[in-house]
Amino acid sequence: MKRYFWNIAFILGLITLNSCRKQPEEVFIIDNVVSTALRQIGYQTQLIEQSGKILNPRTVENGHVSYVPADDWTSGFFPGTMWYMYDLTKDEKWKNLGIKYTGSIEEAKHLKWHHDIGFMINCSFGNAYRITGNDAYKDVIVEAAKSLSTRFCPVPGVIQSWDEDRGWQGARGWSCPVIIDNMMNLELLFEATRLSGDSVFYNIAVSHADVTLANHFRSDYSSYHVIDYDKINGGVRHKHTAQGYAHESAWARGQAWALYGFTVCYRETKDERYLDLAGKIYNFIFTHKNMPADLIPYWDFDAPNIPNEPRDASAAAITASALYELSVYGKPEYKKTADKIVASLASPAYLAIVGTNGNFLLMHSVGSIPHDNEIDVPLNYADYYFLEALTRKKALEK
Ligand code: GLY
Repeated sequence: MKRYFWNIAFILGLITLNSCRKQPEEVFIIDNVVSTALRQIGYQTQLIEQSGKILNPRTVENGHVSYVPADDWTSGFFPGTMWYMYDLTKDEKWKNLGIKYTGSIEEAKHLKWHHDIGFMINCSFGNAYRITGNDAYKDVIVEAAKSLSTRFCPVPGVIQSWDEDRGWQGARGWSCPVIIDNMMNLELLFEATRLSGDSVFYNIAVSHADVTLANHFRSDYSSYHVIDYDKINGGVRHKHTAQGYAHESAWARGQAWALYGFTVCYRETKDERYLDLAGKIYNFIFTHKNMPADLIPYWDFDAPNIPNEPRDASAAAITASALYELSVYGKPEYKKTADKIVASLASPAYLAIVGTNGNFLLMHSVGSIPHDNEIDVPLNYADYYFLEALTRKKALEK
């Protein structure tokens, strides 16, 4: 009897020890990144504050930090980073910075010349409203959703991403180009319906998601980058890429946007088709022969010179954040994958030494190789989604 008791006690002890060991390791990763971020993002904001200007950092170009105006597609990420720093530290300093830099891009709510207003306003004002509950932020979110809705093309049933002949894509003979990134703008629309009670925004989001689900994916569930629709008859005119290696290749960040976007759609609608698609995108990404062991993808899964191609840490950060959310929708095993990505990003291979990397957190992202733009650089959205992933991980570890 005595021996039986000690055997049981020994086994229980081992189980406890094992779970204790595992928990501190995951918590250690979070604490380590937060402590690095406090110094690194701390310097980044200190330098901006000391300049006496309102500056919005995006990346490092030719050794210098480059800043963006309010109408740049990435303008919401730096304000959003302030909000996640607040989430992770509960230090009022970050809340005050969040308020200041969010307010600095308010004019973006009127933007109608590209689709990225969802990214811009949701990452800044969306987080601001989530954290403060201040009603003034609501109005901006709803106004921005109205602006985004002006880009809805009713016959194909999608939100047009780029104007035909305007912006950095130039004239390519497209009619109504929709990029997979556009799935990320839908969160703003869902939120706007919740805040305003106007179902128009929700219906546009669902229509866009359904048409994207029908047309953007290949049989292996990799996503095209650009689908060009006919505004008159609603048909598909082209299946193209802009930032990927080739029209038929799988641009890494595009796969990440797809995974994240359909996860949000499942959260907001509970439509199982979206969850099912997210699972298929997951399988494409994580069973791909070209996915490296550290789970930080090359910039395109079909890039021609793998393994001698740049990685894209931004794609990894977006994916990790989406996987933490998916893990609570009946896919607990996805948390392990997300943890592995975060552990890689938190390692010296990707996490910058404090005082380097333009005071951005993550190294090794790619903007657009076909445009010869932002290759192997820090990017504000890599940092934003990394901190979001960390915030989600912290909540799950509890
Ligand atoms: N949405 C633009 C990009 O992912 O580069």
